[in-house]
Formats: sequence, C-alpha cells, structure tokens
Amino acid sequence: MYHSKIILIQILFFLLFIGCKNDQLTFNEDIAPIVHKKCSICHHDGGAGPFELINYQDFKKRIDMIEFVIQKNYMPPWPADPNYRHFAQEKCLKKLDKEKILNWIKYGAVEGDSTINFPTITKENISAKPDLIVSLDNEFITNGENKDQFLMMKFPFELKKDTFIRKIEFIPDNRQIVHHVNAHLITYENDNKQNIFGGDKIVDTELFSDKEAFEKLDILNDQDQYPRLTPSVSNYLPGSEQFDYPKGIGVIKANKKNVILVNDFHYAPSPYKEKDQSYFKIYFSEIPPKRVIRETQLGTFGISDIIPPLIIPANEIKKFTTKAIITDDISILTINPHMHLLGKTFLAFAVTLQDDTIPLIKIDNWNFRWQYFYTFKKMLKIPAGSEIIVEATYDNTSKNPDNPFNPPQLISERKNFNGRGSMKTSNEMLQFIINYLEYQEGDENIILGN
Ligand code: HEC
Repeated sequence: MYHSKIILIQILFFLLFIGCKNDQLTFNEDIAPIVHKKCSICHHDGGAGPFELINYQDFKKRIDMIEFVIQKNYMPPWPADPNYRHFAQEKCLKKLDKEKILNWIKYGAVEGDSTINFPTITKENISAKPDLIVSLDNEFITNGENKDQFLMMKFPFELKKDTFIRKIEFIPDNRQIVHHVNAHLITYENDNKQNIFGGDKIVDTELFSDKEAFEKLDILNDQDQYPRLTPSVSNYLPGSEQFDYPKGIGVIKANKKNVILVNDFHYAPSPYKEKDQSYFKIYFSEIPPKRVIRETQLGTFGISDIIPPLIIPANEIKKFTTKAIITDDISILTINPHMHLLGKTFLAFAVTLQDDTIPLIKIDNWNFRWQYFYTFKKMLKIPAGSEIIVEATYDNTSKNPDNPFNPPQLISERKNFNGRGSMKTSNEMLQFIINYLEYQEGDENIILGN
C-alpha cells in the first residue's frame, strides 16, 4: 500500500515535470535543432519546398498549417513505414520529436533566446564544393503546354587525365518543375571518340526510340560501338540526397572523355514556358574503385514477371506480385520502389532458405511525388537462395484522388512504341530497383549514410 502511494506520487511529479517542460519549450532552444534537420533541408531558398522554414518568424507565420501537416504525417514527406524498416537519413520525425513540436505549438509557440545564431541554410551550402561542375551550355525552355516532358540529355566533359570519381550529384535549377532525373556515366575507353561534344544535347523520348535518340545524341564511339556505361550514377527526386558511400565503394574510373547521359529527365507540367539549367557536381576520389555497385530490378523491364499481368480494370483495387530468387550472397545498399499514380501500397521483403523474413520496405500510403531511393542504415545481407517478394496494390477507383481519369479507365503496363516504359499518366509500372554489392564478410557492420 505504502509502496503504491510512493509510485503514485512519483508519477504525479513526473507528469508535473513533463507539464513544466512542455510549456517551457522554445523554438530557439528546443525546436530549431529538430526542424533544421527535418524541414529546412527542403524548405530553404531555392529548395524543393514552396517557402522557407528556418527561423522563428517563418514558423510562426504558418503555425496552424504546420501543426496540421505534422499531425497528419503529411510533412516531412516520408512514405516508408519506420516501424517496418529504418533507413539512413530518414526524413520522418521521431515520435518524441513530433510530440515536442506539437506541444511547443500547443503551449503558445514561444520564441526563446533570440541571440542564438543558427547556421545559414542556402542552396549553396547544403551540399559540398565539387571538383568539377558539368552543365549544358544553354538554358532549356519547357514547352509551357501544361504537359509532362520526358527528355534524354547529354552532358559531355573532358578531363586532363584518367580520374576516379566518387560521386556525381544532380543539382536542380528550377526546382518547381524538375521532377526526376536518372543519369548514367559513359566513358570512352582509349579516347575512342574524337568529338564528344557533337550531336544534339537534348532529345524528346516520346518522339524517338532509344536507338534513334542515341544516334541523335551521337553517343556511339568512332567504331560505331556502344561505349562503357555505368548505370544510375545519379538519381534525383525532390528531397533526395546523393549518398556518400564508404570509401572506395561506388567509385568509378573515368577516362579523359566522358558523357553524363540522362536517359530520363522528367519536367512536371507547367502552363508557362519555364527556364531550367540544372547541372551536375562531380567529386573526384583519390582511392581507386574497390567494389562495384550493381543494379537489378524486379517487375516492369526487370528480371521477374508481374503476376497477374499489370492490367488494372476501372473501378477496381487490385493486387500484384513479383518475385525473384537471389543466387549469390549480396549486400543491399539502396532500394527504390516505383509505381505511378494508381499506386496505393507497396511491400517488399526477402524470405531466406531457412524461412526467415527480412523486411525491406513497407509503404501503406503510396505517394507518386515522393519516390525516394531508400538507403539502408547498414549494408543488408541477403543470403543466396533467398526470394525477394514484392506485393503492390493499385487503386483505380474514383476514390483515388490521384486517378488521372474521371471516370476511371482500364490502365495497364502498356509499353509505348519504342518499348520503353512510358511515364505517361495513362500507363502504370511496378518496379523494384536494388543497388547491391557482392557480399563480403563483415558487410552487415558497415554503416551507410554521411
Ligand atoms: C523532402 C522535402 C521536404 C521536407 C523534408 C519537408 N517539406 Fe514541407 N513541403 C515540401 C514540398 C515540395 C511542399 C509543397 C507541397 C507538396 O508538394 O506536397 C511542401 C509543403 C509544405 C507545407 C504546405 C502544405 C500545403 O498543403 O500547402 C507545409 C506547412 C510544410 N511543407 C511544412 C513542413 C514542415 C513543418 C516540415 C518539417 C517538419 C517539412 N515541411 C518538411 C517539401 C518538404
């Protein structure tokens, strides 16, 4: 009896203590350190967010909206379920941090000590100083027809000598319209191309096949062969950051003559002719390549069929599966789930030969806008013989606010005439991209992320 009284008093004190703490929360002392990490990375001048969220005034001005978007988990955008799998540089708020911000708002959103100096957050200092910048000569001007534009682009660059490259980072210029970018590095061995600067720099992929586009861009070497290509050296989506993998991993050897080939440059629709001169930052490496990153993909254009075939009748919510067996031990670095506008849920996991399940990713509320490349906190070993299983549902009813058709129409994985997966809103895709290494002893202890 006596004992439980003490506990009761202790609980009371604890609640009192929390109460005091909550109404003493201030922006400058308690909230700024959280939101600078979780909001300002996008909400700064020139960032992906539509307005700045850095100092007290920025937050105070929009306090009701901020309370709403945090409560609803609408911001920060992070579709992956953190209870299923944590990733490096997770954008979602930790449960305690979320409560802290909401309590700070509830207790009057106090500013606190205004003499504290914050680091300035600008588009210049949010990423590092590169060794080289590669840009197109001229600004690109979009068609202003309020339609998506899908382009292939060529960014040629010459180096004085063969060089190791550790990172190629895409820097969007006009962040309101640059939707996504997937880039490869072409390097011409033995300088077997006279002029890498010839040909078109930009080709509309809705109009030309890959082969025609390559001809227009003048990509082949002087012997008319395809040059060496390292896939997916740079991927961009709003909010994504290019990762620094541990030393030597993912380093690429570049010869003197190189081209960054963007095979998918997607501009979002705008009713105005918009200007853009996005560019790449290149970082050299003193260390030669140690281990090569490989890429594989399940589903559309990948190594595994989709079952049943990806056809989604109007007014239906339908589930699809795609599976592949991993033949060697691998260490996964990064994964990317991909669907279009009808996507609703996405689940991926591996099942080992011993019947153990290794969770990969779970998205309960698919959002077309936020398709991150998710990097694991540590390299993730998948033992040989495991099966990777992807389950995805699509909502082709009028209840899906992203449905491009009203009334809904049958939508399928139609391939456009050149056999590429069309990104057109009338098509769907189910893709799971995996970046991995051949497994080495101890990989599971290697921490990824910066
Ligand atoms: C990964 C980038 C990113 C991060 C991180 C991010 N935002 Fe946003 N935010 C956006 C974008 C882009 C929009 C524009 C609306 C949209 O596209 O959904 C937006 C819109 C908003 C809006 C307006 C919502 C509306 O309906 O108009 C608020 C408020 C907001 N963000 C607050 C926050 C807060 C608070 C945080 C941190 C806790 C945060 N955001 C983190 C990118 C981001």
